[in-house]
Amino acid sequence: MPTATEGEEPYRYAHLLPYFSQDRYPPLTPFEHIDPGHRALLLENPRAFLDKASRVIELTPSFGTEVFGVNLAELDNSGRDQVALEVARRGVMVFHDQQDFFDRGPDFYREWGSYFGRLHIHPTSGHPKGYPDVHLVYRDAKTTYNYERDETITTTLWHSDISYELQPPGLTTFFLLALPETGGDTLFASQVMTLKRLSPPVVAFLRTLKALHSGIEQANFSRSGKRGATVRREPVEHVHPVVRRHPVTGEEALYVNRQFTRHIVGLKREESDAILKFLFDHIDKSADNQVRVKWAPNTVVLWDNRITAHSAVVDFKDTGELRHGARVTPQAERPIPALDGLEL
Ligand SMILES: [Fe+2]
Repeated sequence: MPTATEGEEPYRYAHLLPYFSQDRYPPLTPFEHIDPGHRALLLENPRAFLDKASRVIELTPSFGTEVFGVNLAELDNSGRDQVALEVARRGVMVFHDQQDFFDRGPDFYREWGSYFGRLHIHPTSGHPKGYPDVHLVYRDAKTTYNYERDETITTTLWHSDISYELQPPGLTTFFLLALPETGGDTLFASQVMTLKRLSPPVVAFLRTLKALHSGIEQANFSRSGKRGATVRREPVEHVHPVVRRHPVTGEEALYVNRQFTRHIVGLKREESDAILKFLFDHIDKSADNQVRVKWAPNTVVLWDNRITAHSAVVDFKDTGELRHGARVTPQAERPIPALDGLEL
């Protein structure tokens, strides 16, 4: 267990440092997901939770919002429903000055996340002792417990979290308990936008496809001795539509990612490789579909994993600074194909 300190003071979030239990978990079982965003659709003003905001900044015209002056921790259930819908519409939302949220601690993080769906317990990552459903990222001068590779020329690795699960996550909450002075930003891409950039015949073809997503490489990373060297649940692979439909907004989004998508079902190897490489490169390169979140103390970021991709930026290695983050990851529905009747 690391013993991070901030200056001379004992580390404020020492109780949330990563722990790698040797517990073993059975396979996940399917469940019915009811998305809270549906309830907000019925409201006269589904954005009323923003009424008290001192500032709302749209990061780009159709993707990403930054909010000042709204205390997430104090929202009632209707406010939480509205948050779910607004994040589904904007893809990613950055909430500043959430000291209250941070201070309420891990039981609250868990209660908050559970409102939006069944919390996922990560098969390999570190978690605070006693809170296996709080996923941690962690890097300090000597150690990283992240899925980070050092044989590539960039640390950018676009992905949608745990897309290998049968029911991957929906609204996801992430915040940094400790962060470098500068650097360690997070990149987000709108998969609604990446899809929209493509021509209609290509979109029509992609809607007919489904792809295999795999957790095996991530598990092997841990089995090779990295990241706490623990695999608590056997890795799984699942087939998802290449274009999925959001259950609340009805919007279509591209649903492949370089980290976990391996193969397009039914295509020859070269065909699958060529199409996936084209799509991954498109996600990588299109700054017109992206935003970059610069972290500040007490910032909480929410995103909808069904319609976005993201990547860490590990550009602060040389400073040796601590970056310690917590994520609560509610699972959502099994991805809905944009093409009616596509058999999975
Ligand atoms: Fe991630």
